[in-house]
Amino acid sequence: MLQARGLARQFDTTAESLHVLKHVDLEVRAGETVAIIGPSGSGKSTLLFILGLLLPPSGGSYRMGGQDMLTLDRRTQAEFRRRRFGFVFQSCNLIEHTTVWENLEFPLMYAGVARAEREDRIRAALDSVDLAHRIRHPTNLLSGGEQQRVAVARALVNRPQVILADEPTGQLDRAHGRQVMEHFERIVSEGEKALIVVTHDAAIAECCRRVCTLEDGVLNGG
Ligand SMILES: Nc1ncnc2c1ncn2[C@@H]1O[C@H](COP(=O)(O)OP(=O)(O)O)[C@@H](O)[C@H]1O
Ligand SMILES: [Mg+2]
Repeated sequence: MLQARGLARQFDTTAESLHVLKHVDLEVRAGETVAIIGPSGSGKSTLLFILGLLLPPSGGSYRMGGQDMLTLDRRTQAEFRRRRFGFVFQSCNLIEHTTVWENLEFPLMYAGVARAEREDRIRAALDSVDLAHRIRHPTNLLSGGEQQRVAVARALVNRPQVILADEPTGQLDRAHGRQVMEHFERIVSEGEKALIVVTHDAAIAECCRRVCTLEDGVLNGG
């Protein structure tokens, strides 16, 4: 489903050139759940951004379903991002001054989903993270853990093929962390889908079928 070969990424700052990713090989099949662990600053978020087409790599190849992702024009890349990927950002990235409902409705509106269907999907996504009772709540009044669960629901509402989740359970208690992982697992095993999750939590990594380690710019187990 997803195949990255020799991915590299450097950041050129005024002082130095930082080679964060040197050589990343990663192959993910449909139905797989993959955890990526590694020290802070090792490039885990950078790798997820590249896989989600939010950041171009400085080298390597990346294909999805046999199609080259890196030579797509910007519009097609944006289309892929919207339709194929569900992103849970490390810092929830909820839209400020909006409600839970609006945060979930925007991606559905962009995707052209009709009103009645939007409502069904929003309710189902919020139910899956135990937040149906907060549907009209302003997001800035939610607790950190609740915001994280909204971010998870938002990533799933468009029914993405690939879920990319950056520490999605970092602010959750054990029970909600496990609930989110079980939900991911269910979604992935039901369809032609995949999950790539960055985590520090060994219990979360153990929920995945494969654990890869990112260290010194190289991914082991990819
Ligand atoms: N846009 C950027 N410009 C310069 N350095 C960056 C940029 N983005 C990330 N970095 C650096 O790259 C390294 C890896 O960052 P990141 O991928 O966020 O690591 P992780 O998610 O594993 O903690 C860090 O040292 C970070 O400071
Ligand atoms: Mg990170």
